[in-house]
Amino acid sequence: MGNLSSYYDLIASITKNDEVTRQEIALIQKHLKSGHILDIACGSGRHLIPLLHLGYDLSGLDSNNIHLKLLSEKLNRKVQLYNAEFNRAVISEKFDALLLFWNSLNEICHDNNELNEFFVKSRTILNEKGIIIINFDDIKEIDPINLDFEYKGEYEGQSFKYQFKVQEFDRRNNISKSIERLTIYSGDLVETITAELIQKWWGSEEVSSIANDHGFRIELDKIKANNEIYMILKKA
Ligand SMILES: C[S@@+](CC[C@H](N)C(=O)[O-])C[C@H]1O[C@@H](n2cnc3c(N)ncnc32)[C@H](O)[C@@H]1O
Repeated sequence: MGNLSSYYDLIASITKNDEVTRQEIALIQKHLKSGHILDIACGSGRHLIPLLHLGYDLSGLDSNNIHLKLLSEKLNRKVQLYNAEFNRAVISEKFDALLLFWNSLNEICHDNNELNEFFVKSRTILNEKGIIIINFDDIKEIDPINLDFEYKGEYEGQSFKYQFKVQEFDRRNNISKSIERLTIYSGDLVETITAELIQKWWGSEEVSSIANDHGFRIELDKIKANNEIYMILKKA
């Protein structure tokens, strides 16, 4: 039985095409010209690697060691990688920017307490003029209760089907439990791998209000390729 994490790059490519990533990198460049960045929940390096090539100093953090292994295999220089849950991580460096892209906040913080902890920790590792860039789906644009999609394609000479479906939704707290299922067809062999994902669907007003309490000023930005939220938080 395989592990869905090993197919992270395949799954990421279904949802986040190169143009989205290119526009997100341009957005980061607009808000930070140079400096030391921590990519929180960096996955296998969708932003970390292009930012390294642009001359930024990068560290990465992710709770999934398989995602970090995929990232390490792509790196040709030493980069500080933390294998930890962000709110519990021991981090001694300081940063000019923290990044949280593709609904990572929804996986790291499931309630107001965890979001408060997140901001307390973020402040301690940010330099004086440090910023946080947070990207997540706008719940006014999507219907998280009924998320259910399927994608079929080819990967390394094999056919695959990827399915994502919300199984349970806690309407009071806007928390979903979803099942991801990847089926790989290789000749007569069929392998199915499943994983469970818990996500808290934050509204931008909720995040802004708690960020304000922690002394951050909020700016919103957009990219042309989607209708998602890009929040820029600056230490007030
Ligand atoms: C949807 S992926 C986003 C990856 C990357 N930021 C991107 O935009 O391509 C979410 C990532 O969050 C990581 N993650 C989930 N919970 C976490 C936590 N508590 N602390 C750190 N990373 C976490 C997962 O392992 C996964 O790599």
